[in-house]
Amino acid sequence: MIHPDTIEQIIDRARIEEVISDFISLKKSGANYKGCCPFHNEKTPSFMVSPAKGIFKCFGCAKGGNAVSFVMEHERLSYVDALKYLAKKYNIDVVETQVSDENKQKKDVRESLQIVNNFANTYFKQKLHESNEGRAIGLSYFKERGFTDETIAKFELGYSPDGKDIFTQEALKQGYKQEFLERTGLTVSGETNSGQTYFVDRFRGRVMFPIHNLSGNIIGFGGRIVGSDPEKKLAKYLNSPESEIYNKSKTLYGIYFARTEITKKDECILVEGYTDVMSMHQSGITNVVASSGTSLTLEQIQLIKRFTNNILVIYDGDSAGIKASFRGINMILEEGLNVKVLLLPDGNDPDSFAKKHTAQELQTYIVENKTDFVTFKTRLFAEESKNDPIERAKLINDIVHSIAVIPDSITQSVYVSECSKTLQISESILFEQIHKIKNAKGGKDSALYIKQSAPVPKPVIQKSQVHATMSNELYYNEFDIIRLLLEYGEYDVFIHSVETKVKYYMYQEIVEGEMLLQNPVFSKIFDTYYTYMQQGSTDLYKHLLYHPDEEITKIVVEINSKDKKLSPLWKRKESMVETEDKKLSELLIDTIGAYKKRRLDEEAKHLNELLKEEKDITRIIEISGRLTIVKKLITSISKELHHVS
Ligand code: CTP
Ligand code: MN
Repeated sequence: MIHPDTIEQIIDRARIEEVISDFISLKKSGANYKGCCPFHNEKTPSFMVSPAKGIFKCFGCAKGGNAVSFVMEHERLSYVDALKYLAKKYNIDVVETQVSDENKQKKDVRESLQIVNNFANTYFKQKLHESNEGRAIGLSYFKERGFTDETIAKFELGYSPDGKDIFTQEALKQGYKQEFLERTGLTVSGETNSGQTYFVDRFRGRVMFPIHNLSGNIIGFGGRIVGSDPEKKLAKYLNSPESEIYNKSKTLYGIYFARTEITKKDECILVEGYTDVMSMHQSGITNVVASSGTSLTLEQIQLIKRFTNNILVIYDGDSAGIKASFRGINMILEEGLNVKVLLLPDGNDPDSFAKKHTAQELQTYIVENKTDFVTFKTRLFAEESKNDPIERAKLINDIVHSIAVIPDSITQSVYVSECSKTLQISESILFEQIHKIKNAKGGKDSALYIKQSAPVPKPVIQKSQVHATMSNELYYNEFDIIRLLLEYGEYDVFIHSVETKVKYYMYQEIVEGEMLLQNPVFSKIFDTYYTYMQQGSTDLYKHLLYHPDEEITKIVVEINSKDKKLSPLWKRKESMVETEDKKLSELLIDTIGAYKKRRLDEEAKHLNELLKEEKDITRIIEISGRLTIVKKLITSISKELHHVS
C-alpha cells in the first residue's frame, strides 16, 4: 500500500489538464479544456476537462473521472500503479506502508493498551488479596467501609502498592512495553536534572477501581487514597488520563454491570461516584451508573438513551451542587429523556445512605421520594423567591427554559399547566415565553425538524422496505442533497434566522432528524463526507473526488460534470439554478423538505396498505397512530416549502 501522505501529495499536485494533455491534445474552451475523446471514436470534440473541478467528462460516451482514474483507464493500470505513475510525473517520493496500514496500527495500539490494562487489573487485584500490604491497607479499608467480598469481586477492586515504580518494574519484567505502559497512563515518565529519563507508577498506595466499558473491557482506573488525607495534599481520587481506549466524556462508571437492569427497569439511576454505584448494587439496586464527578456530557446521555428514556438523578443533600447540575439536566431534557430527581436527606450521599438503611428501606425511599425534575425545580425555586419579584422573574425565566427544550409538545403542555399552578402565573404567559425561546433557537423547532421523541411509536415501516421500493423521485431527491452538500457544504446560510453552514444544517436534518439517505452509494458519500470532516480534513470535495472507492468518485464526477444530469425536480426550477448560491437557504429548505415529504409520503402509503390487511386491533391502533403523525408532518412540511416539486 502507498502511504496516505503520499497519496495526499499526489492528489494535491496532479493537475488534470496536465495529466491528460500528455495523451491527447486539449484546447482551451472558456474555463475548461476540450478535446477528442480517447475512449471512443469521434471527430468533433465532446471530451471536456475542468481544471477547477479536477474532472474529465465525455459527453459522447459518458466516461468521466479524476486524474487517477484517467490514467487507470487510459493506460490500463491498477489504482496503485496509476498513483505511482503520477508520483513519477510530479517527482514525488513514494512512501509505501508496511503490511499494516494506518488503521491496523490504530487497532494494534488499542489492543496493546487493553492488554496492559488487563495485566494491571490482575496485578492490582492480586496485590489486594494476596500481599500483606494490600490486605492490611486496601482490603481492610474496603471492609471498614462495608463492602462485601462479593462486591469487591464483582467490581474487580484492587490495590496499588506504595512505592516508586513497583508496578512498572514488574510489568517490564513480564515483557510489557514501556510505550504502552505510558500510553495507558499507568506509568509516568520524567527527567532528572542530569537529563536522565526515569519512570514512576501513577498509582501508588491507592485502592483501585477499574473502569469497564460497555463490553466489560477495562479502559482505565480510578485510584483512591486510603482513608482521609488531613493535609489535603493528595487528590482523593486519581484517574487514568485519556487514551486511545479511554475517553472520559463517553464513559459511565458501572454501565457494564447496569446495562441489562437498565433495560429491564426502563430506568437509569445516575449518581456521582464510584462508591455510590457499588453501594447501590450491594443494596440490590443495580440499574445505577456514575458520571464520575464531572458534569454530565451529551455523549453520556446518548449512551444512556440506548437503553432507556428515563433517568433518575440522585443528589447528595447540598443545594449548591444541585443548582450547579441544572444545566446538565436541561441537556438531558433536550435529548427527549424524562428526568426525575431524588434528594437525599442532609449530608448523605447514596453510599452513606445505603449503608445506614436496609435494602428495603432504600428502595422504598427512592420510590416515595423521586420527583419529576421540572416540578422539583419549580418548587425549589418557588420557595426561595417567594418575596422577591426580581428573583421571581429570573426563576420563571429559568424554568421556562427547561420546559422549552423538551422536544415533545404534550409533555411540555403538562409542565406548563403544572408550573402555572405552582408559580401562580397564567399558562398563556408561559407559552408565550416558550415560543420566544424556541424561535430564538430556530432550527430544531421548525416543522422541518422531524425528531421522533419518546411518545411517538416506533416507525412501523422498516428501512429495508423503503429501500426495496425506492422510487426515481426519491433517488433524485437524494441526488440533489448530495449535490448541494458537495457544492455548497462550506457556505454560510441563514435558516429560520439562525446562521449555520450548509453541512451542519444537512447533518442536523438528515442524521439527527433520523432521515438517513436510502440509496447505498449516496449514503456512503454522505457518511464519508462527515467522517472526513470530523477528521479535520479541509478539502472535503477533493477527498471524495479521489476516494479509492470508485462508486463514490463516479457520483462525485457525475454531480460535477458540465452536463449536470440535474434531477428532473430541478429542471422545473431552472430560473433558480442560475442564482442558486444566492437563494441557497431557500433551495436547501426545499430540497430537504421535498426529500422528507417524499419519505413520509411513502411511509403513509405503506401504512395505508398495512391497515388494509391488518386484523390485530393493537397493531391497527399503532399503525393508525403513526399515520396521523405522518400526515401532520407532511402538512407542516408542505407549508414550509417554497416551490413544491
Ligand atoms: N472524583 C475524582 N477526583 C477527585 C474527586 C472525585 O475523579 N479528586 C470523582 C470520583 O469518580 C468520585 C466522584 O468524583 O467517585 C465523586 O466524588 P466524591 O463524592 O468526592 O467521592 P465519593 O465517590 O463519595 O468517594 P468516597 O466515598 O470514597 O469519598
Ligand atoms: Mn462518598
